[in-house]
Amino acid sequence: MAIFMASTSTSSLNFNSLFSSSNSSFKHQTLTPLIHFTHNPSSKKHLALKVNCSVKKFDPMKIMISGAPASGKGTQCELITKKYGLVHIAAGDLLRAEIDEGTENGKRAKEYMEKGELVPNEIVVMMVKDRLSQPDSVEKGWLLDGFPRSSSQATALQEYGFKPDLFILLEVPQEILVDRVVGRRLDPVSGKIYHLKYSPPESEEIAARLTQRFDDTEEKVKLRLETHNQNVESVLSLYEDITVKIDGSADKDDVFVQIDKALLKVVAS
Ligand code: AP5
Repeated sequence: MAIFMASTSTSSLNFNSLFSSSNSSFKHQTLTPLIHFTHNPSSKKHLALKVNCSVKKFDPMKIMISGAPASGKGTQCELITKKYGLVHIAAGDLLRAEIDEGTENGKRAKEYMEKGELVPNEIVVMMVKDRLSQPDSVEKGWLLDGFPRSSSQATALQEYGFKPDLFILLEVPQEILVDRVVGRRLDPVSGKIYHLKYSPPESEEIAARLTQRFDDTEEKVKLRLETHNQNVESVLSLYEDITVKIDGSADKDDVFVQIDKALLKVVAS
């Protein structure tokens, strides 16, 4: 129970402002104020205001983003995390980190990634589950990119208790995807994603240090696309009621406007 003193001249109190959060990734709050106005015998100028509040704990957002290779998942994740402060967890990035560290899992994963196939669940599921369980993901909420990619991965997540609020699917025609893959470059310093034509680096210095992913060739993207097409429907069917399909072929800022609308609905729900 909280007790507030209010001047008799105060006509109303904004209860939401008393409990507002600065982090826009939190979904909602529930306040159930019970207000009793009583005369305070020691002063004629004030009312004693007793408020019983049941306050629901802030619930951070949990979002999944999916789409074909180069549909813009990583690019949109940069914009989403900037606004909502969610923890970005990309299955592909976790796997590439294992490859860079030269671990056994990384060596095995690379064999599959080079063929554009899905890395076996025994490697990728625990990796994602562990990252989702880290304190920052639990506290700030998460944005899961490129996972799950099969119904068995979706079921595993569900069994571990991870349930998303929204499933975003980026839709982009195949001919655009190939163009995006071959022109993609990555900045190893900032982690930023560039495209030689659509999103060129801001300076010569950045341009000189850009790298290309080992699976970003026209031949490999076609294999990755085949794998995506074989699996996407089975995953979608499990998240049908929370799926929003976004036209990912538009300019990246226009794509974000569409995604943002869907996220704002989640925040307000
Ligand atoms: P992963 O790293 O996830 O690759 P992917 O799904 O193929 O997606 P990308 O990272 O290639 O593209 P993106 O959608 O993020 O696009 P981006 O924003 O960069 O997976 C790699 C491999 O790992 C898989 O093949 C698999 O082997 C394995 N793996 C991953 N997850 C797994 C899982 N769950 N289970 C098993 N195995 C797994 O954009 C691409 C380019 O387009 C950029 O240059 C960008 O600047 C440009 N661009 C983006 N948006 C726009 C726009 N709107 N207009 C113009 N250009 C744009």
